[in-house]
Amino acid sequence: MRKVYSLQIQYPEQTREFDSRLTKTGRRSLSHSISHSSTDSNSSGGSDAENPEDEVSPRDMQQINSKGSRDFCIKNIKLADFGRREIEHAEDEMTALMALRKATQVEKPLAGAKIVGCTHVTAQTAVLFETLMVLGAQCRWAACNIYSTQDEVAAALAEQDFPVFAWKGESEDDFWWCIDRCVNVEGWEPNMILDDGGDMTHWIYKKYPHLFKKVKGIVEESITGIHRLHHLSKAGKLCVPAINVNDSVTKQKFDNLYCCRESILDSLKKTADIMFGGKQVVVCGYGEVGKGCSAALKAMGSVVYVTEIDPICALQACMDGFRLAKLVDVVRQVDMVITCTGNKNIVVREHMDLMKNGCVVCNMGRSNTEIDVSSLRTPELVWQHVRAQVEHIIWPDGKRIVLLAEGRVLNLSSSTVPTYVLSITATAQALALIELFNAPEGRYKQDVYLLPKKLDEYVASLHLQTFDAHLTELTDEQAKYMGLSKYGPFKPSFYR
Ligand SMILES: NC(=O)c1ccc[n+]([C@@H]2O[C@H](COP(=O)([O-])OP(=O)(O)OC[C@H]3O[C@@H](n4cnc5c(N)ncnc54)[C@H](O)[C@@H]3O)[C@@H](O)[C@H]2O)c1
Repeated sequence: MRKVYSLQIQYPEQTREFDSRLTKTGRRSLSHSISHSSTDSNSSGGSDAENPEDEVSPRDMQQINSKGSRDFCIKNIKLADFGRREIEHAEDEMTALMALRKATQVEKPLAGAKIVGCTHVTAQTAVLFETLMVLGAQCRWAACNIYSTQDEVAAALAEQDFPVFAWKGESEDDFWWCIDRCVNVEGWEPNMILDDGGDMTHWIYKKYPHLFKKVKGIVEESITGIHRLHHLSKAGKLCVPAINVNDSVTKQKFDNLYCCRESILDSLKKTADIMFGGKQVVVCGYGEVGKGCSAALKAMGSVVYVTEIDPICALQACMDGFRLAKLVDVVRQVDMVITCTGNKNIVVREHMDLMKNGCVVCNMGRSNTEIDVSSLRTPELVWQHVRAQVEHIIWPDGKRIVLLAEGRVLNLSSSTVPTYVLSITATAQALALIELFNAPEGRYKQDVYLLPKKLDEYVASLHLQTFDAHLTELTDEQAKYMGLSKYGPFKPSFYR
């Protein structure tokens, strides 16, 4: 029998985000993938203002769907039709999950799985959860971030008798209440956890540690959640295996590189109406995010400088045709500064004092830390709010810089995350759940694992189908020569 710990987990200060629900807005929020139609047209659901039930907290009223089920807590069940259309719209771009549904029509790899989930409640995650059910799982689901919840999607699920708890209550207590309703249910005990941020895992450790006797594994998506799992593991307190989906190669490449390559331009256009051609830009950090941003701006005719601390990434920047410079040396002349380092204090007051009039400053890396925004809150500088996500900071001599999203992650604050990118993560989550649920005894210990390379490759191959792409197969002779299986994995696990 597995060892079950009844414990008081002490997380380091910087990872205690779950203690404050409000800090979660900094996480990668799927709310930005909500299409305009989500917000413009909810005719079948009626407007929120017209809903008399708005006055009463769903916690305090009996919610019921058309089939008589009460096992959910959402904002307004009348939004269900609208939510169903949103889910169907997302399905069109989430072809890998739809393919997985087809591929497992006969064999149900999650039959017997009882998954308790705590993730964003959006059309895209709904496609994931409905896929898990098609694969044979029973699921209960709480929202990990009230701000990203699409109420109409929650309504569509509730109408289908899916136990979803996504009430946007005023207090932190409401948030944990939803999580608790998800786990604390008579006659049903989870055997898998799908988490995004670690809150569900934390709650089960804190309130229901006995449940870990039956839990076969945890699949975690966020950086914060992974930190917590590693912390538990180091302390010897992780009592089930966990798969870290965040660091799978497909996630890193698509989310960080391709998504940023697309969304940087969109975000800059939407916020600051910037013309890119001929503009001088400095991109700080040439990792995945920096590579994406630099490539997009270069393609639009901008002159791009790159700053780096790592000689390998710096050399890559040079080979890709960018000028490697120190920020302090180019900051006077550039029209735009974009931070992508994951580090802190990349742009500080001394840099901003040197910038020319109209210089745009924004962050695509780690929320709130890369630009020292607090150094701009001094009496001699005037802050002028221009429009959503755009502030002018005016110096006593009239010079102004344009600060976007107050230093938070620009694309998450002002743009959309393509459904296709979310599909990659969702597919990795589904495969990780299948892997942990079906793994023979002993394959995984009480530790944090990366998604096995073969499954990472499978995530990509399921997405290839979208492109009418034709993958070359190894011949027997080639496979033998390379020492590989014809069916993968094709690269060692350290290959990225
Ligand atoms: N905006 C988004 O949609 C999005 C998507 C994914 C990740 N991110 C975030 O972006 C950040 C970067 O992610 P990544 O995948 O590119 O990481 P990465 O580690 O691949 O790249 C960061 C690069 O910054 C460099 N760097 C660190 N300190 C520096 C400094 N002082 N000056 C110049 N360069 C410095 C590092 O050497 C590294 O090459 C992370 O915080 C990540 O969470 C944002």
